[in-house]
Amino acid sequence: MAAKIIICMGSSCFARGNEENLKIIEQYISENKLETEVDLKGSCCEGKCSEGPNLNINGEMFHGVEKGTLIDLLNDKLK
Ligand code: FES
Repeated sequence: MAAKIIICMGSSCFARGNEENLKIIEQYISENKLETEVDLKGSCCEGKCSEGPNLNINGEMFHGVEKGTLIDLLNDKLK
C-alpha cells in the first residue's frame, strides 16, 4: 500500500520547521528505500498556519511537527 505524504511548504510552515522536516523525510525515504511506497508532495497552505508546521500523512493532519519526533511519526505511519 502506498502512503501519501503532503508537507506544507507555505511560508509559515516552511519557516516554522518544514524546510528541515522536508529534508528529514526525503532522507528517511531514501534510507528505507521507500521511493516506490511513498508519494511525497508539497502544498502551498493547509489553512492552519498558526498550528504549523503541518504534515498530512494518509489524510491525517499532524500539527506542530518537530524534527525530534518526526522519525518516530514516520516509523509509526509508514512501517
Ligand atoms: S503555510 Fe502551512 S498551513 Fe498555512
